[in-house]
Parts: sequence; C-alpha cells; structure tokens
Amino acid sequence: MNITLIAGARPNFMKIAPLIKAIKSAQADGKNILYRLVHTGQHYDKKMSGDFFEQLGIPAPDVNLKCGSGSQAEQTAAIMIKFENELLENRPTVVLVVGDVTSTMACTITAKKLCIDVVHVEAGIRSGDMSMPEEINRIVTDAICDHFFTTSKLANIQLRKNGIEDNRIHFVGNTMIDTLYQNLDNLHKPGLWEENNLEKNKYYLITLHRPSNVDDPKNLSKLIDIILRETGDLPVVFPLHPRTKKNLDEKFLNNSKLIVVDPMGYLEFIFLVKNSKAVITDSGGITEEATVLKIPCITLRNSTERPETVTLGSNELAGTNPENLIPYLKKIKNNEWKKSSIPPLWDGKTSIRIIKKLIELYYD
Ligand code: UD1
Repeated sequence: MNITLIAGARPNFMKIAPLIKAIKSAQADGKNILYRLVHTGQHYDKKMSGDFFEQLGIPAPDVNLKCGSGSQAEQTAAIMIKFENELLENRPTVVLVVGDVTSTMACTITAKKLCIDVVHVEAGIRSGDMSMPEEINRIVTDAICDHFFTTSKLANIQLRKNGIEDNRIHFVGNTMIDTLYQNLDNLHKPGLWEENNLEKNKYYLITLHRPSNVDDPKNLSKLIDIILRETGDLPVVFPLHPRTKKNLDEKFLNNSKLIVVDPMGYLEFIFLVKNSKAVITDSGGITEEATVLKIPCITLRNSTERPETVTLGSNELAGTNPENLIPYLKKIKNNEWKKSSIPPLWDGKTSIRIIKKLIELYYD
C-alpha cells in the first residue's frame, strides 16, 4: 500500500507529522506501507515551512512542487499541473490530504480526476462563511473525496447532511492535538522571553492573518490600538505573518508594550501560548491548541468551523469589529474567563486510529 501525503502550508505540517510517525510505527510492526511526502511549496519561507520540518521531525519531502505565492487561482492552477505530473510518475493507492488550505483542494481535484482515492483528515467542518477561501476548499474537497476523518460529531452530522454514507465517515479526533501532546515536554523558551523579562501568565499573545482583519491598514491599526489600551501594563507579543507585515503601521514597531517578532517555530510558539494570560487570534488551529492547554482565547472572526472550541473549550468569538473586543479583554483582565474542557477523542492517539483504518480500507 502506497500513500501520498500532501503538505502545503504552515497549518498542514503539524497535522502531517504525527501521521508519518504512525506510518513508521505500522512499518515497524511489519506492515508493508510506503508513503511519499509531497510539499506543494505553498508556504516557502524558512520561518513558515522549513523550521517546522526540523522541529517536528518531518522527513524532507520526496518532492517540492514549488508553487508559492500568486492569487488563489494561480496557486490552485500551478499546484494542479505539477501534482498531476507527480501522480502520473508515482501513482499511489491513496492520496491523504489534511485541513483546508489551497493545496488540500487542488490536490484532491487532481487525484480524483485520475481516479485515485482521496481521504480527507479534518473533514466536515464548516464556518458557513463563503468569503473565506478555506470554506470553499472544505466544501470542494468533501464533495469528491472517498473517506472522511473527523475531529467532532458535528462534522459527522454535516457530512451526513451532504449525503455521505456512515461507512465513509470516521470520527477519530484531532491530529494537530497529537502533535501538541507529542511536543509538550520539548517546548523551547524563545529568546524574546529573557530579552523582554516575560513572566508566566503576565503577557498576551496575538496572531492575525485573515484578510478581514489585516488587509485594511486602518482597521488593523485600530485593532492593535484597542488591544494595547485594554491589556493594561502587560506586554503583548505579536509574531507577524507575512501578509500582516505588509500592512502594519510603522508606529507599532517602536511601541514599548508591543513585542513584534517574525513568525515563530512551533516549539517556541506553543511555549508562548502555554504560558500566556490569553491569546487573541484569527486562526482556527490556535483555538484548538488553546482549548487543550486551557488558555483563554478570543477569536476575531464572526464564525468558526470549530464550534467545540467555544461550546466546550476556552475560545470565544468576538467578531471582526475591533470595538467588540473590549468586553472580552475586560473579562480576561479581571480573571473572569469561563471554565473549559477538552473535546472527545482529542487525546493524542488520532493518527494511530487513522492509519489503522487506512490499513483496514486499503491494505492489499
Ligand atoms: C494560508 C491558508 C490559511 C492558513 C494560513 C496560515 C489558504 C487559502 N489559506 O493563508 O488557511 O491559516 O495559510 O499561515 O490556503 N507568503 C510569504 N512566505 C510564505 C508564505 C506566504 O511571504 O512562506 C506570502 C505570500 O506570498 C502571500 C501571503 O504571504 O502574499 C499570503 O500567503 P498564502 O499562502 O497565499 O495564504 P495565507 O494568508 O498564508
């Protein structure tokens, strides 16, 4: 059995790493499973890609399609053309895609048109917000792939509503959380900790990259101004995504309360989440990590495809109007955040369950 694994953008790397470990462990048990790792090159900066491979122990990709930058259509087209050649030369038993990035959708379409089975890890989640490219990627991927590995019961319900039969839906948990548990004893204190005299529970952490928050420089400035004002004396650490860097007003680079840094490695970033007073973000994955670490999290979006991070976890949705953040920040400042719990099957064993199921389905 040959599996082609797709990794393209930063949030994919944490989802692929534990799957490769689980494949290696099945190989050690005598199973004849081979895998081929394809990096589409969607994220290409060392800080967005290479560092994650090193830190998470992901082997070097067997091939890099080098499809970085460009518009959504340019990126999708470039990945499809290169991935088609890859599949013609190295036809697998099955292609495995993760998450909801452009690479996920582009590789799914390409493989299905060559009549190759595709399985989707993190299937069935929906935000309902069609202005997000990720939502389109999710819908297209789930419309045509063959087996669906889900992180929540709600995702199963969504897939059934779309007419998918029960025997193609597999509720297994969250591979990103496998990576979190596998690395908790191994986190790195970043250099900025000592440089800025940071202390546990005495700083905030922000990450922003969604067009709705960062593409309008005036809105971005207003948002940061409010965060700085409402967080009192505590410092705010802000690792900058390349998209955000383009629009951040220079005045923020010399603000003594705001610690602006380059995108961080996984081990440093999770160290900062785990020790922070709260996280303010527009990412999806970080809301899951904050939930498992029980760190208060405010999401600057109107909807989430991961509702269990709000109903069970430590996350709250504040919307995209910067003013809406104020009451949430006050609650955190006053230590009045809600109690939270960890969603079912987010237990660190998801990748093992996935590989076991793939062996049942595809092993010859
Ligand atoms: C992508 C994913 C998003 C994910 C995010 C995490 C899609 C549709 N979106 O969004 O789901 O949460 O990654 O980071 O797939 N750039 C660099 N260096 C890089 C990568 C990107 O400079 O290594 C620049 C690009 O040239 C572009 C911008 O950053 O100008 C945005 O990159 P892109 O990959 O298009 O989308 P993201 O906004 O990162």
